[in-house]
Amino acid sequence: MAGRGRRKLIVVSNRGPASYERDEAGERVTRRGSGGLITALRSLVSHEDVTWIASAIGDEDRAVAAEAGDEGFEERAEDGSLYRLRLVAHDPRSYDRFYNTVANPTLWFLQHYLWALGDAPDVDELLIEAWEGGYAVINRGFADAVVSELDRMPGAAVFFHDYHLYLAPRLVRDARPDARLGHFVHIPWPQPDYWRTLPDAMRRAIHDGLLANDVVGFHTRRWRGNFLDSAAELVGATVGAARDSAEYAGRRVLVTSHPISVDPGEFEELAQDDAVVAAERELAARRPERLVLRVDRTDPSKNIVRGFRAFGLFLEQHPEMHGRVVMLALLDPSRQDIAEYVQYLEAIRAAAAQVNERFGGNGWLPVDLRIRDDFPQTLAAYRHYDVLLVNAVYDGLNLIAKEAPILNERDGVLVLSENAGVHEELSRWAITVNPFDLVGQARAIHEALELPAAERREWIEGIRAHVRRHDIGVWIADQLADLDAGEAAAER
Ligand code: F6P
Repeated sequence: MAGRGRRKLIVVSNRGPASYERDEAGERVTRRGSGGLITALRSLVSHEDVTWIASAIGDEDRAVAAEAGDEGFEERAEDGSLYRLRLVAHDPRSYDRFYNTVANPTLWFLQHYLWALGDAPDVDELLIEAWEGGYAVINRGFADAVVSELDRMPGAAVFFHDYHLYLAPRLVRDARPDARLGHFVHIPWPQPDYWRTLPDAMRRAIHDGLLANDVVGFHTRRWRGNFLDSAAELVGATVGAARDSAEYAGRRVLVTSHPISVDPGEFEELAQDDAVVAAERELAARRPERLVLRVDRTDPSKNIVRGFRAFGLFLEQHPEMHGRVVMLALLDPSRQDIAEYVQYLEAIRAAAAQVNERFGGNGWLPVDLRIRDDFPQTLAAYRHYDVLLVNAVYDGLNLIAKEAPILNERDGVLVLSENAGVHEELSRWAITVNPFDLVGQARAIHEALELPAAERREWIEGIRAHVRRHDIGVWIADQLADLDAGEAAAER
């Protein structure tokens, strides 16, 4: 990223890099945005001239947006660099429909293949209403903010993120035909037939919106291929021979795949924190001989319940491990305004209790379930696992599989779902599992615990070297190069 001036960039995502709250004394406090996407994009702010457009989500965000006259304002990143933030204060009822009816229980479920189709989805009046009065309205709000920022900063490139914003690029393209637009989809893209669960008008609008960009990016070749197939099948796009572009509505759209990554140095530094050291002491005091770790949001796509069942099966098959091994599950409670997520959290608690009731005793709790967002504890656990279980049903990438090995001190083994995007990069240094196969997962846990020391060392070093070579800086450089190439492609 060195050797040229700062590029004008408008980053657009539902969640922003900063949010606001009042503390107990009534003072406004700024919170660092969380989630993989935000962490990954943070370094953009230090290197480029960034305006970030995001939703005003809480009350204090809305107050900040109002004070700024619904315009952008200057904000300081953690490393001291300045950027502009523009919070869009949507109508709360529209936002609720957008987030709690369309984006998460519909698009997220669809894109992770989470429905049992005999039961769901019901495309009922509620969903249609939420699509029109929620998803479309919020996307219009984002598009208007982008257009107004483009008028302020002509020539800036716009970088949309994720499944919340599929309709906005078309609206911006119609208003500013020459704008340079890129969109990165951080979650899986399913095969064309699964998109047919949505009515024609909705699935068309989604594909049409994405294809209004100059560049559409995915983490893996697999999701990229599915997108090209569904663009061809559902809206008649013509796929380029190299399968890295599509012709649609008289324009050429570059379709790329670059797996996102982390900043290993940042993790090493964060792990020095006193809170991490204290969490390590707590873990060490209760540490079993062998530790199997999982770290996830409580999301059905993460396959937590099957992970516990597989661990139970492993315990049934290996009585010699009773009392010697614990599965530590560090789970961040997620999206608890959505019924499916509330039920899933209940199922998680029940599945953990089942294993503990059946096998536990004499001071041994086989599943140590901790449901809270506790970053220092996560970093401490990264240091000490023997096995890291990532068994997602489907996952766009999964950054845990890249972060944890950076800090691990026990040559821990990665057990990895073949449906996690990161499998495309890391499979040669991991034990692959089919996320639905409980028997296979139980066997994989056993194999991982028994893997010879030399192999364990070789595998974790393989992962570390790969992540260092392909760190977040490389991903960002790839995105910026794609935006340049996308503009050139569209002009041809
Ligand atoms: O996985 C894609 C992603 O955008 C993550 O970056 C983020 O953690 C999550 O989805 C957003 O979900 P939520 O709205 O629950 O924070």
